[in-house]
Amino acid sequence: MRFPVIHVTQLLLLALCSWGEEEFQWTQTDRGSFYYGMFPPGFTWGVGSSAYQTEGAWDKDGKGQSIWDVFTHKKGKTFMNQTADSSCDGYYKVQEDMDLLKELKVSHYRLSISWPRLIPTGIRAESVNEKGIKYYNDLIDVLLENKITPIVTLYHWDLPHTLQEKFGGWQNITMITYFNDYANLCFEKFGDRVKYWITFSNPWSIAVEGYETGEHAPGLKLRGTGVYKAAHHLIKAHAKVWHSYNKHWRSRQNGLVGISLTTEWGEPVDISSQKDIEAAERFVQFNFGWFANTLFNGDYPQIMKEYIGQKSSQQGLGISRLPSFTSQEKAFIKGTSDFLGIGHFTTRYITSRNFRATQGPSYFTDRDLTELVDPKWPEPESKWLYSVPWGFRRLLNFVKTQYGNPMVLVTENGVSEKMLCAQLCDEWRIQYLKGYINEMLKAIKDGVHIQGYTAWSLLDKFEWDEGFSERFGLYYVEFKSKSKPRYPKASVQFYKKIIKANGFPNVREVENWHRISTETCSTTNQLLAAEEQRNAAANLLRLIYDPLTSHMEMVTEIVVPTVCTLCILISAVLLMILLRRKS
Ligand SMILES: *[C@@H]1O[C@H](CO)[C@@H](O)[C@H](O)[C@H]1NC(C)=O
Ligand SMILES: *[C@@H]1O[C@H](CO)[C@@H](O)[C@H](O)[C@H]1NC(C)=O
Repeated sequence: MRFPVIHVTQLLLLALCSWGEEEFQWTQTDRGSFYYGMFPPGFTWGVGSSAYQTEGAWDKDGKGQSIWDVFTHKKGKTFMNQTADSSCDGYYKVQEDMDLLKELKVSHYRLSISWPRLIPTGIRAESVNEKGIKYYNDLIDVLLENKITPIVTLYHWDLPHTLQEKFGGWQNITMITYFNDYANLCFEKFGDRVKYWITFSNPWSIAVEGYETGEHAPGLKLRGTGVYKAAHHLIKAHAKVWHSYNKHWRSRQNGLVGISLTTEWGEPVDISSQKDIEAAERFVQFNFGWFANTLFNGDYPQIMKEYIGQKSSQQGLGISRLPSFTSQEKAFIKGTSDFLGIGHFTTRYITSRNFRATQGPSYFTDRDLTELVDPKWPEPESKWLYSVPWGFRRLLNFVKTQYGNPMVLVTENGVSEKMLCAQLCDEWRIQYLKGYINEMLKAIKDGVHIQGYTAWSLLDKFEWDEGFSERFGLYYVEFKSKSKPRYPKASVQFYKKIIKANGFPNVREVENWHRISTETCSTTNQLLAAEEQRNAAANLLRLIYDPLTSHMEMVTEIVVPTVCTLCILISAVLLMILLRRKS
């Protein structure tokens, strides 16, 4: 379930005031025009992906099953019951995808390691899969040969299934130990070459969609309780791994360990209403502060503790559904992110609303708010992903003022389109990237310490419960074809130009990029259409041939002799007729 989004017609007043030093100004709304300028020298540009979404080869070379393999193999969990069993076949296409990265001229590539590919049962002491280690070793080596920095995520949602089945997954505190053992294996095997580590990608989604709504694997609906417990263990596991790295590997390997938090921005509907301002703050704290405040300031946001505590006691519970940290734990967790990875896609307007405690515990009702979208925002291609570039700048400034201006890496930003047939002229994505990257540039001018940007994503790929119906790629993937060919969308050309220039030089040039990008895509579009027709024809032939091949034995044993006998008989009859006529 996504929380209901209602259109709001209220007009918003533009108010110009200056940034507060300590506190974020919720009423500041600077949505000025396009800013032409450059990124600081050394700013890094990249693209991202994740293992389950792209690798395929789900049961090859000794890989164990993940919770996503099991979840997608159950019917009714994903769009059209689709799975990522083969997906982009990235496992077999390392060199091909490297060529795409070279074409883009990115300086970094964000990828994730599949825990069950390295450790089939999840428990390092039980077994380690050498073929899995070889695969990631080769991938990392090829990246470095091409001067592309790998940014490696340890956990992008594919928990080894055995850990879920036997021990309850992230509901069980012992996951911390297993995850730490796995992380140490990765540092040992790859840490000589990998210098940027991300423990978890989007822990909000792991907890909320995995354990509250059940839309994602493992599909549990432990409303208002399991969700907080899962997050509690994820945070502790992150801290544990950071300390492991700090103690045993940092001096030798000199890398950084961070986390990637994905969050929407929440803006008050009415900036003159204190209730709306507070509701918007609750939205951001329940989504982002839940993890960021804990890692950077040492505890859950005060507002979460208050709201969940209050609701819990109204529900007759003796103790808050939000677990608490001891003071030793707080000290252990605080300051355990060398950089902050930010994933960001869209924004909501927020207004306050009281949910009665009798509705039963739920993460969503704990927040007491309603999410809205502005009907004036352009209609999105995927129903949830509205393009609201200014929200990005607001979020980045919030990071600066709330968490002591940490080093930020934008780890995910991009947009999807819903398409039934091939469409390489992705005007919508070009506009989106242009707007969001520009707001990020403004945030850097505001003093936010952003070091790199990762466009999400390199390829169209498996989008979890949405299957292949949402396409996030800069490259189009033809999933229907067995060879999974990749085709550049227009946004490849446009993003390339931003990377090459390291910013937006001037109106004329940026408009020129735009024109060139859309020109080249129309010719590629025609090529793809021809390819699709070939595929359709090939599929048709396969349909005709398949029944034939499966009946081949019958054909040779029965049909062939029968046909031969018939031929001989017919020839004999014809011969007789011929002979009679002659006589
Ligand atoms: C997915 O599986 C469910 C349950 O078996 C079935 O009812 C549904 O028709 C399937 N959907 C498609 C598109 O095959
Ligand atoms: C948690 O995991 C451990 C093994 O690590 C297991 O012994 C224990 O039974 C699990 N607890 C629950 C509640 O499943």
